[in-house]
Amino acid sequence: MQDKGIFNLSRRGMLAGSAASVAVSQGTIASAQASQASSSPPARMAVNLTVNGKPHRLELDTRMTLLDTLREHLQLTGSKKGCDHGQCGACTVMVNGERVNSCLSLAVMHEGDEVTTIEGLGSPDDLHPMQAAFVKHDGYQCGYCTPGQICSAVATLEEIRKGIPSHVTEILTGRMRPTNMEMRERMSGNICRCGAYSNIVDAMTDVARG
Ligand code: FES
Ligand code: FES
Repeated sequence: MQDKGIFNLSRRGMLAGSAASVAVSQGTIASAQASQASSSPPARMAVNLTVNGKPHRLELDTRMTLLDTLREHLQLTGSKKGCDHGQCGACTVMVNGERVNSCLSLAVMHEGDEVTTIEGLGSPDDLHPMQAAFVKHDGYQCGYCTPGQICSAVATLEEIRKGIPSHVTEILTGRMRPTNMEMRERMSGNICRCGAYSNIVDAMTDVARG
């Protein structure tokens, strides 16, 4: 009997406690919603970007990615949307000289940045040495991944030149060299469904040798 009384008391207490916690939760949600409403970021924001040497001031939805900004606002469709999830590298561009998956980066994070896309590297009449090497070594088939591969390849050689190590860099070898393994490791975020990898490395080797 005593056990039952304790059980009843506990049950009443538990129900009262639950009702109180529901009230607290509702209060917490309401106040969170109120504070969220008062601190919501503006839906649109101005951002200044220099793209391929040209300054742009754009009024953008704060959720717009750098890739969509380049393709839809600036009509620079060389950078490709493959996975849109940071997994294929088709959208690779250079921001202040470093490669970035532009599908993963919000445009408003790049206030004042300098962006270089494949269109800024060279033109059909005046190819960048890496573009020329890709043509020479047949470093593509369908070409969909190629703008991202070329931007990534240019930035990769610059990383090696600056001595920035990768996972496969042998620290004790002294000067960093653009070895086959070093280039493959660094380019591993750029997927080529056509499998042009060995020709891409040949093109990069050609440019690295100068
Ligand atoms: Fe950006 Fe695939 S589209 S990584
Ligand atoms: Fe076709 Fe790379 S050339 S995906």
